Amino acid sequence: MHRRDEPARTPGNPPGGMPAMDDWQLPDTDRQDRHWSRAAARYDDLFLDPFRPGVENPLLAAIAAVPDPGSKVVADLGCGTGPLLPHLVDRFGRVVALDFAAGMVDRARKRLGPAGEGGRVTFLVRPMHDLDDHAGAFDVAVAVNSIVMPDVRLVDRTLAAIRASLRPGGVFLGILPAMDAIHYHTMLLNDEALDRGLDPEEAERHAAFQGEHHFYEFAFGRFQFQGLRQKFWQPFEAHHRLVKAGFADVELTKVLYPWDDTITGGPAFAAYPRSWDWSFRATVADA
Ligand SMILES: C[S@@+](CC[C@H](N)C(=O)[O-])C[C@H]1O[C@@H](n2cnc3c(N)ncnc32)[C@H](O)[C@@H]1O
Repeated sequence: MHRRDEPARTPGNPPGGMPAMDDWQLPDTDRQDRHWSRAAARYDDLFLDPFRPGVENPLLAAIAAVPDPGSKVVADLGCGTGPLLPHLVDRFGRVVALDFAAGMVDRARKRLGPAGEGGRVTFLVRPMHDLDDHAGAFDVAVAVNSIVMPDVRLVDRTLAAIRASLRPGGVFLGILPAMDAIHYHTMLLNDEALDRGLDPEEAERHAAFQGEHHFYEFAFGRFQFQGLRQKFWQPFEAHHRLVKAGFADVELTKVLYPWDDTITGGPAFAAYPRSWDWSFRATVADA
């Protein structure tokens, strides 16, 4: 989940209103590695940390439930600045930390410091569909908010590559940015404006502005901000694409965020169910 208040504070962003469709670039992935590298330095300002206190995140429990981790290889795919790596290094026998943005891998390496040295951690700068040399090598793969390629052909190719990188019986865990949570936030913003007496047209304009709809393409599930283009997920699409890639036992659970001021209007919605991203668990059938 990106920091929902951040784009509105950034100079140069359009002050609300939908851009013409021509303003949307074609969904290629050209230079997304460079855009992510550039984002590395201000990553903590741009993105909400799904591991911060107050977030109900089922992923850490799912990682803790992996039996006999000391004998296992785990891959953090799209590791970014590496917030998950300390949890993995403390538990697993070997850790592969992969990201296609060199700036992210640099920061992840610095975060681990001496714990990343000595051969138990391998850092790879490459796209995560490029795993042929790791076929059947991982027991566990984790992807936290990193299956976000705007081109769904690349999403499918990447999921198939991750499936092939896992041993029979292997587990794929992760978090996907939720498109349906943006719809939910929009509903609450709209209701709140109607309750304040705005007429329906004004209330919708208010909700679209506060919900930053100009950064989203709702029908196809994409978000675009300062050169970064990210896929956002509906739960049915997550299930569909994981099954299509050959995964079994797909389970989706919400990562729940507190209604704090990192979400526009957040504290005012404290009485309502919390906003979310989608955490998933999927397996590779035993041979
Ligand atoms: C939103 S960040 C999440 C980073 C980290 N997993 C975390 O939880 O903080 C997405 C990360 O995925 C990486 N990424 C996106 N697409 C990728 C791809 N196709 N191959 C490798 N890395 C990718 C980006 O460079 C970025 O570091």
